Amino acid sequence: MANPSLLILAGDGIGPEVMAEVKKIITWMGDKRGLPFDVTEDLVGGAAYDAHGTPLTDATLAKAQEVDAVLLGAVGGPKYDVLDFSVKPERGLLRLRKEMDLFSNLRPAQCFDALADFSSLKRDVVAGLDIMIVRELTSGVYFGEPRGIFKEGNERVGINTQRYTESEIARVARSAFELARRRNNKVCSMEKANVMESGILWRDVVTEVHQKDYQDVELSHMYADAGAMQLCRWPKQFDVIVTDNLFGDLLSDAAAMLTGSLGMLPSASLGAPMANGRPKAMYEPVHGSAPDIAGQGKANPIACILSFAMALRYSFDLGDEATRVESAVEKVLADGVRTADLLGPEGGSPISTSAMGDAILAALD
Ligand code: NAI
Ligand code: MG
Repeated sequence: MANPSLLILAGDGIGPEVMAEVKKIITWMGDKRGLPFDVTEDLVGGAAYDAHGTPLTDATLAKAQEVDAVLLGAVGGPKYDVLDFSVKPERGLLRLRKEMDLFSNLRPAQCFDALADFSSLKRDVVAGLDIMIVRELTSGVYFGEPRGIFKEGNERVGINTQRYTESEIARVARSAFELARRRNNKVCSMEKANVMESGILWRDVVTEVHQKDYQDVELSHMYADAGAMQLCRWPKQFDVIVTDNLFGDLLSDAAAMLTGSLGMLPSASLGAPMANGRPKAMYEPVHGSAPDIAGQGKANPIACILSFAMALRYSFDLGDEATRVESAVEKVLADGVRTADLLGPEGGSPISTSAMGDAILAALD
């Protein structure tokens, strides 16, 4: 059988720096675990613009559609601010997500014990927290028509439309239930069925999908505003949360910050199953290209490394290997190894991006 294939798009700014540490782990997987990956690399974002005049070439997109999983670093930077909107680095990323139809965005909020004091919440509220927000990513109010700013009488009116079809809701619900089966078998669906018709449909369809195929998973429903409160009050009551594009944007950002630094947060975006049964998939850290620290060896590679761990789990069914990587990260943090972003106000001596990668490799061994 062919080796699993990965396309690495390191991108701009700290993207290539953090990706270099992931590549060490990919090599380690081949050498030490007998799990070789076929890795191709290509350009995206500003790097692709510099080389080709576009943030994503058709050839790169075609490769992304063929491989088992895409690993992306980050795109963008001040150098590209002057560019026309149509060729901005971010357009490359958006086009990838859209063309690959990555409708299910997985955003974990996981609190490593060693960093629990980093949270704005009390230690026992967040220590050991491990929840997953599944955000619908390709529909809803960010895409619905009509949209625009129109003239109505003698004033302007801004319009956006929250629009969901049954099939759009059903597929993201399935993705959340499947995920729950690999975790703690519990899904909470969030909408505002009390004030939005699209919310009523959301609740109905999630319930129908549950009834039909996932009765073994515990399902609850919550209004999204109440959900926001509960996330701050006692986040450990949740396991998988599934919600729409807009609420998911807000709830996943809020949940992520329960646990500390942007440099720690991975994500996955999944689409429909391919011929080999694996979902189309792209894995990327939540952070951007961090121009303020790029090129200085200061970036924390953990978000990108944990994104690769998600790839192991969700694209390659290598949950044990994913746990191995996550445990190595946990051990290194417990040993007090810190990049600059993980040092509190009291300071300390930070290590470099590559030293963090090496420490994680050593912990893997
Ligand atoms: P950012 O996430 O790049 O940086 C925000 C702050 O967090 C900065 O102070 C940065 O130094 C710090 N930070 C981020 N990642 C870090 C890491 N791994 N280790 C240590 N510190 C880290 O967001 P910002 O500054 O708003 O955007 C910078 C550029 O990145 C812009 O061009 C923006 O469009 C782009 N961007 C790209 C994203 C992507 O590729 N998915 C997402 C967000 C922003
Ligand atoms: Mg956001």
